Amino acid sequence: MLLLPLLLLGVILPGGDNKDVLQGPTSLHLKRISTFVNSTWTQNLGSGWLDDLQVHGWESDSGTAIFLKPWSKGNFSDEEMTELEDIFRAHFILFTQYVQDLVNELQLKYPFVIQIILGCELHSGKAIESSLRGALGGLDVLRVQNHSCVPAPDSGSRGQKFCALVTQNEGTSDILERLLSDTCPRYLLGVLDAGKAELQRQPEAWLSSGPTPGPGHLLLVCHVSGFYPKPVRVMWMRGEQEQPGTQQGDVMPNADWTWYLRVTLNVAAGEAAGLSCRVKHISLGDKDIILYWGHPTSIGLILVAIIVPSLILLICLALWFWRRW
Ligand SMILES: *[C@@H]1O[C@H](CO)[C@@H](O)[C@H](O)[C@H]1NC(C)=O
Ligand SMILES: *[C@@H]1O[C@H](CO)[C@@H](O)[C@H](O)[C@H]1NC(C)=O
Ligand SMILES: *[C@@H]1O[C@H](CO)[C@@H](O)[C@H](O)[C@H]1NC(C)=O
Repeated sequence: MLLLPLLLLGVILPGGDNKDVLQGPTSLHLKRISTFVNSTWTQNLGSGWLDDLQVHGWESDSGTAIFLKPWSKGNFSDEEMTELEDIFRAHFILFTQYVQDLVNELQLKYPFVIQIILGCELHSGKAIESSLRGALGGLDVLRVQNHSCVPAPDSGSRGQKFCALVTQNEGTSDILERLLSDTCPRYLLGVLDAGKAELQRQPEAWLSSGPTPGPGHLLLVCHVSGFYPKPVRVMWMRGEQEQPGTQQGDVMPNADWTWYLRVTLNVAAGEAAGLSCRVKHISLGDKDIILYWGHPTSIGLILVAIIVPSLILLICLALWFWRRW
């Protein structure tokens, strides 16, 4: 009776933790990277990302978005998408011109790179926070958030000048305000919903033995592959007990946008039986994958395969003897 609550704790805790860690994408970021080579030559790149997954490209010549996933438009209509493309196309052209005109005033030296990231992120409790960040050569210059532009602490007068640039033009700051407070959050929710099936890919898992780590020892390897998003928890277990010697490798990319991880355990050969590899991932819900080392089921099958025919043979022999006798 005293043990029962402890056992329950042991069973409930492993399932209950990591809910926050093992979640899918929560953010959308639109990036613009502009390389100003000289006074007449600027190279513009644009892309859209859900966390680490690219969902949009940008065709600079025609000024149109490339939708990399069938669900990249989320729940936006074609009209609204066209309107957004118009805004970004105008931004790409006008902003480039603007910066070129102000190169001397801003004391910029060719070549230089400007990075602009507009994004929004879903926080716990369904709050969505939007912001625009501007950087020059990888150094933060400004951040627009909560209706105000704040120069980065180390950016000096440059940050203030760039902020003035952003806020001075009423049309631009109205559009930016709408993108941050309305468009981005609405689009983020819509696209997360539209891509739900692909944004959660279930892992496959299998076991193998690695190169032997020493005399009388085995290296048990648990392979987990094809999952998305990246956060995953893989443990070698004995019953409900996580094995402290579990070694986790790096999460490696697969050829598609899914991930691969191998997790090993070095054990004395006699202690491998009864160990299992347990995989937790958001795509699995509460149904963890559990693989047993040495496959007790197949050992059971072998036993059945040997014992049953032997028994039948014995009975036949007995019958034959009995009849003869
Ligand atoms: C700017 O760079 C491009 C590409 O490197 C080059 O073709 C062009 O002549 C340069 N223009 C000036 C004014 O230096
Ligand atoms: C922006 O405003 C929200 C709520 O209005 C607040 O929670 C958040 O901390 C603010 N962020 C910054 C950077 O001021
Ligand atoms: C798209 O989905 C979001 C979130 O569910 C919703 O707020 C929005 O009204 C939907 N439609 C459009 C056109 O944004």
